Amino acid sequence: MKKVTINTLRKMKQAGERISMLTAYDASFARLFDGADIEILLVGDSLGMVVQGHDTTLPVTMDQMVYHCAAVARGTAHAHLVADLPFGSYQGSADEAVKNAIRLVAEGGAESVKLEGGAEYAEIVRRISRAGVPVMGHIGLTPQSVHKLGGYVVQGRSEEKAQKLIADAKALEEAGCYALILEMMPAELSAEITASVSIPVIGIGAGAGCDGQVLVCYDLLGMNPDFSPRFVKKYVDLAVLIRDAVTQFRDEVKHGEFPGEEHSFSSDVPKPVQLYSIPGK
Ligand code: KIV
Repeated sequence: MKKVTINTLRKMKQAGERISMLTAYDASFARLFDGADIEILLVGDSLGMVVQGHDTTLPVTMDQMVYHCAAVARGTAHAHLVADLPFGSYQGSADEAVKNAIRLVAEGGAESVKLEGGAEYAEIVRRISRAGVPVMGHIGLTPQSVHKLGGYVVQGRSEEKAQKLIADAKALEEAGCYALILEMMPAELSAEITASVSIPVIGIGAGAGCDGQVLVCYDLLGMNPDFSPRFVKKYVDLAVLIRDAVTQFRDEVKHGEFPGEEHSFSSDVPKPVQLYSIPGK
């Protein structure tokens, strides 16, 4: 597969080819998703919840985003790599937004950044784009505004709010966004937004009318047995597979069955071994 760029994504929209996008937080998963030809990998600030165990994405810092992004970049060869600007890293001023976007690219290896918010962020989008960093917009349910929204609720259900989201999408395209995320909104509304802009639109909980779909990788892999929201399809139940595997490991350790002879060294093994798995090696 050839390297996916923002031009590839634009051409995919023009050709009516659907775009697949997944979150990734480390090199091992990135390598697997990249090898499966997923077009976009997102280092999402959802890592604050699924990796760090917080209730919201709000505590995630720039340093943490840079750290995870650099790890994902080491596992990514073909996919376009986008990283979230975390809460507090772009809302204060355009100068700060540009500085933090550049950090994600220069230190984290991201190829673009994503930020949450509508027309009110047009100027920030313009400034970051002008600095040479492509920006992906994110409207609808914007998790960094969870307290303002009053919870994680479907957005754009009234005519007035739907019109505001359509106007936001157009303003973000006009400001230079190369793509948009639509999160948690009625399917008819996201289809209308997708048709009304020329940039690729990726949905999550936004129905089938978008140009592509994104999921949090832990959700589609079934890592959390207690989390099955309507918008997620679990393609595998890894929680069960992992529990079974580690239970078997525990039992074999307790019964002296692991390690077997085949996992042990004798004094005549001459060559050095690779100690831990490095994705791709
Ligand atoms: O942080 C994230 O994972 C996201 C996706 C849900 C789009 O923003």
